[in-house]
This record gives sequence, structure tokens and C-alpha cells, in this order.
Amino acid sequence: MSQVKHFLSLSDIAASELRAILSEAHRIKKARGSLPKGQIDMDAPFSGQTLALIFEKSSTRTRFSFDMAMRQLGGTSITATSNDMQLGRGETIEDTAKVLSRFVDGIMLRANSHDTLTALAQNAQVPVINGLTDYNHPCQIMADLQTLEERGGQLSDMTLTWVGDGNNVAVSFAHASAKFGFKLRISCPYGYTMDGAIIEAARAQGANIETITDPLSACKDTDVVIADTFVSMGDTDADKRLSDLMSHQVNDALMEAAAKDAIFLHCLPAHRGEEVTASVIDGPQSAVFDEAENRLHAQKAVIRWSLEA
Ligand code: CP
Ligand code: NVA
Repeated sequence: MSQVKHFLSLSDIAASELRAILSEAHRIKKARGSLPKGQIDMDAPFSGQTLALIFEKSSTRTRFSFDMAMRQLGGTSITATSNDMQLGRGETIEDTAKVLSRFVDGIMLRANSHDTLTALAQNAQVPVINGLTDYNHPCQIMADLQTLEERGGQLSDMTLTWVGDGNNVAVSFAHASAKFGFKLRISCPYGYTMDGAIIEAARAQGANIETITDPLSACKDTDVVIADTFVSMGDTDADKRLSDLMSHQVNDALMEAAAKDAIFLHCLPAHRGEEVTASVIDGPQSAVFDEAENRLHAQKAVIRWSLEA
């Protein structure tokens, strides 16, 4: 069992391994060149293998990018929402893990609770990949870092600024700061800051994290400005969040405070006029659609790392 390589959190995986996955993502993207999207990679490394894609919450990018990733790798995938499965009628995640391990070669799960993901991994005999939980979103950040590097960035020289809710995506950036050596500024209004214990744990792994409440100060001369929705899946206080978080909308003033060629990132889906203005997300500094595309390439590298073990 010890050789099963789960991809649950960037904080669990050695910096050298994450570096190798990111380098592989660049190689995989270049190697495909302009092959038609549905064409299998020349080496078809996962011929005969199947990845289960299970969703407790909605998804566009994660669903399609993992499915296309397995097709391009020469394998197949089976997608189900938890409500399509007995999981939605109360079958335990432990039993689900044991049963699916008899059928498929790996499992990607998007879960409401991170505990569900860890219980799946503890009981699965095949690799488990995190497709987002309430705690973190590691695959997203691998794609984000690929996007920054392909635009010429040297991560260890960069300052990234997170503006808004200190949510699941922000947590994976905190973990990534420790592994890739970039400086991370986190700017959240009162009541929406990242759990201090998460920041301290990331710092203990080597993360360089600064918390700056004022978003304009946080964006000053930064290389990358990052926004995400003010209302994540599972949040039930949408009106209050929209009102409380508007002080941290990414707008032209914040982008002007940032470095001249600063890049704007957003994992999507976006809500123009809420966490970001249309002028920023649809403007020349936005890299959001390369970022979305890189979910495919980065996840092919993650799948290779997990399933090739
Ligand atoms: N960024 C992201 O994970 O998008 P989806 O929710 O569409 O999968
Ligand atoms: N923070 C968002 C990310 C969506 C990809 C959410 O959890 O809904």
C-alpha cells in the first residue's frame, strides 16, 4: 500500500516532486503541439487504464480537463456525481473506496468536506487525486504556476498577491509558497482571513507569507494579482459575503498599484462586478484562459505522477 501516491495537498508532497510534476506539465504541453484535442498522445502511457471522476459539487473545468486528460493519455474515465452513486444515499466513503479500487486505476474526487477525501484515500488501494475540497485545490495551483512560468516568470523571484476571501484556493497557494519559493501576500477583510494555523504550518514548511489587510498596499509592485469568487460552493451567506468582501474587489486601481506587467489570475468561474471588474479579467494583463487550459496539461502530469507509481 505504501507505494500508492495520492495527490491530496501540496503540503504533503516534497518540493522536488512538485517541481518535477510542473516541469513534466510544460513538457507534455509542448510535446502535443497542435495535435487535435481528441487525439491520443504518441506514447499513450495510460492505455488500458481508467480514472473515476466523482463530484459532490458542480464543475466545468475540473470535469472536462480530467476527462480529456485521460483520453489524451490513452486511457478512459468514468464520471459520476455522488447523487448518481449510492454515496448520495448514504453508502460510506470507506466502502466506496474499497469497491472502486476493484474497478478503476485511480479516483479523482471533488468533495464537500476534505475529511471525505482523506477517508477515501485511507481506504483506497489506488491513487486518489483531489479535485477541490472545502480546504484546498492543489490541481488548480499547479496549473496556475505553469501559467506563470510559461510567461517567463521565475517563481522563486516572484511576489504573488491573493485578494479577497482566504478560501480553499488561497490555502493551496500558501502551501505552494513553501514548495516553490515565491513570496505570497494575502489580503482579506476582517472575518475572511485564512486560518492562522494554516499560515503557520505553511511557514513552518518554508513559506514566505505576509498578511496585509489593505488590498492596495498588498498589491503594490506585486508580480501577480489573484482573485476568486466571494461565494464558494457550500457557502450559505451569499448576501453578507458580497457586501463584506466588496472592499477587496480586484479593479484597475489595484492593477495599477501592481508591477507594470503584473499578471491577473482567477481559477474561474468568475463573477464580473463582484470579486473582479470586467476591465481586469477581460483586460490585457489577464491570463485566466491560459490558466484554465493549463488545468489539462498540469493534471496530465499529476495523473502520471500518481498512476505511474
Ligand atoms: N477552477 C475550477 O476548479 O473550475 P470548476 O469548478 O469549473 O471545475
Ligand atoms: N473557491 C471556489 C473555487 C471554485 C473552483 C469554490 O470552492 O467554489
